[in-house]
Amino acid sequence: MTATKTNSKISVREVAKYRGQLLTWYDQHRRDIPWRTKLGQVADPYNVWLSEVMCQQTTVQAVKAYYLKFLVLWPTVQDLAAAEQADVMAAWAGLGYYARARNLHKCAQIVANELDGVFPDTQDELRKLPGIGEYTSAAIASIAFNKPATVVDGNVERVIARFFAVEEPMPRAKKQLKALAHEFYDGFKERPGDLAQSFMDLGARLCIPKAPRCALCPLQTDCQGYQAGIAAELPRKTKEKTRPQKYGNIYWIINEQGEALFHQRAPKGLLGGMLGLPTSDWGTSAPQKHPVFVESPESCKTFVDYTFTHFNLQLHLYKAQVANNKLSEEDNMFWAAYKQTEAKLPSVFKKAFKGFQA
Ligand code: ADE
Repeated sequence: MTATKTNSKISVREVAKYRGQLLTWYDQHRRDIPWRTKLGQVADPYNVWLSEVMCQQTTVQAVKAYYLKFLVLWPTVQDLAAAEQADVMAAWAGLGYYARARNLHKCAQIVANELDGVFPDTQDELRKLPGIGEYTSAAIASIAFNKPATVVDGNVERVIARFFAVEEPMPRAKKQLKALAHEFYDGFKERPGDLAQSFMDLGARLCIPKAPRCALCPLQTDCQGYQAGIAAELPRKTKEKTRPQKYGNIYWIINEQGEALFHQRAPKGLLGGMLGLPTSDWGTSAPQKHPVFVESPESCKTFVDYTFTHFNLQLHLYKAQVANNKLSEEDNMFWAAYKQTEAKLPSVFKKAFKGFQA
């Protein structure tokens, strides 16, 4: 039978059995991730918060190195609060979704300066802080403070959709999946953080998107998706809308010392607060070529394509060498050696740089 409503219940005894199966599997097969404590140790809320914010929309694999770097640079929430915002943005470069870095810094300042350096331990209080929403507050409450909370990320959604053979397509199914996941989490005080992470690891290791490894799964016998032979097809998706196409120009401008021109981007919006190479605005039609810049297709690629979550971008590359180094303050531009600045740039600019060298 497939579940179509959120009131598809499992009994108290079944819930206890499934939790036991998940946790036994987790104790043997959990991933070795830098922010995980050893069995039985309590996690530091600063570490949990930092890792969970970084993991929003980003894979664990991509987060690991950034997480370790941040802890070296800023071992405590007070250290992070005292950092310059530009340094936090530079350390975040390449991780994407840069509003997260701005909110991370703001949140650290509130915790350090207004809350005596102590993170709140309830979901409601956590949610009042910048950058902490429903998922992140649940993850911190359960992993750092051992509070039962309904932690649902993409991995958990996939496991639940398969276990209950939920046919409703994403994203519409989100509400139903959350209600079903809640049945596993509700009132579980013994190891709520581990239960959440057991779902995440099951989703990452066995209940993987394309070819789930059902034979190894601790929940196989009771998984309705497996029984119906449709696990690999779930969760179903509504047809993806095609990403809109945008266009822009990007400029590689070199002075006589061989330095490149960089732009400190405005604080808000896409890539807000980050450094970049100078660009035109990005719109749905090709921008005018700026009269000052010389196109050099013979010495570099003409275009570079880049995919953002919500649109595809085609950048037209323009190169120029200038004799006059003078810049006006309000342009937010500066000259610097590319190699010394590269680490602070979002990926789109690194890709464009490669295009300029091609
Ligand atoms: N993704 C987000 N948070 C995670 C965690 N604590 N463990 C594994 N994967 C995660």
